[in-house]
Amino acid sequence: MNFNEQLEKKTGEVESVLAAYLPKPEGFQSKVLEAMAYAVSAGGKRLRPLLMRETAALFGETGEGLSCFMAAIEFIHTYSLIHDDLPALDNDDYRRGRKTTHVVYGEDIAVIAGDGLLNYAYETALRAFGRAVTIEDYQRTEQAMHILGRKAGVYGMVGGQCADLLAEKPETEVTEEMLLYIHKNKTAALIQAAMTIGAVLAGADEKAVAQIERCAENIGVAFQIQDDILDVTSTLEVLGKPTGSDEKNHKLTYVAMHGVEASKRQVEALSGEAVGILQAFPHRNAFLETLVEQLIYREK
Ligand code: FPP
Ligand code: MG
Repeated sequence: MNFNEQLEKKTGEVESVLAAYLPKPEGFQSKVLEAMAYAVSAGGKRLRPLLMRETAALFGETGEGLSCFMAAIEFIHTYSLIHDDLPALDNDDYRRGRKTTHVVYGEDIAVIAGDGLLNYAYETALRAFGRAVTIEDYQRTEQAMHILGRKAGVYGMVGGQCADLLAEKPETEVTEEMLLYIHKNKTAALIQAAMTIGAVLAGADEKAVAQIERCAENIGVAFQIQDDILDVTSTLEVLGKPTGSDEKNHKLTYVAMHGVEASKRQVEALSGEAVGILQAFPHRNAFLETLVEQLIYREK
């Protein structure tokens, strides 16, 4: 199987995991459950669960709990997109080629659909404890829970989002340091969570987990710069969401600071370093390496 066939197969497997954990719309809470399912089933790249599973494969076997964390991280990612698109934040009507959740279900339901997904994510991850067989499984699950909470919260994605919102205010002077903080937290933190949780659940040692954390940081920052490049160079048809959104929101990005060409070189350098870290492990995962490299050529 070539890379694209493997990617399709593996993405399909992630879809099945998500479908298995997604709650069914029923009862008086039907509407919020429908909105949650609408947002999750919009079919993104499923990059975070994929990265989690492929990083785990780099270090060996995991217990049954891995799939709980794969679903949980995609639920958290999806909640963050629902909230990010809201009129109070980025005010975007399209995402992944479809109308955003608040456009379809209204702002009120979209807010609680995000809340619902965030809570349900932890409920789902906690199910991994029930799958633990050995004391090691149990301890690794506990460590994974800590990583998830930390990296998704105020010392991770939420913190990055806070700085990002401040950076949009005209009175804020955005420095390169602040911009890097935003990228490292808003985007890279969740990718770090995905990859380090995979490593931890597969029993990687502390040093290896630290290297994976560094690798994921590079991937996350490269990914975000690429996102900002596409916002300038792509189209609604290719990207599935409106372009020029950063300029509309007066957002100072790496691209605005350094230009498209320098930004592209930076993406390549960061991705190169990330792949270098992966290649240095005794066990190689060619699929994972290609997946990371593909971020350079990502067009949506
Ligand atoms: C696109 O991911 C998403 C990003 C580049 C990250 C943006 C981060 C936020 C919007 C954080 C918001 C935080 C809060 C607390 C509201 P992707 O290209 O993987 O999307 P896909 O899943 O659609 O493919
Ligand atoms: Mg946005």
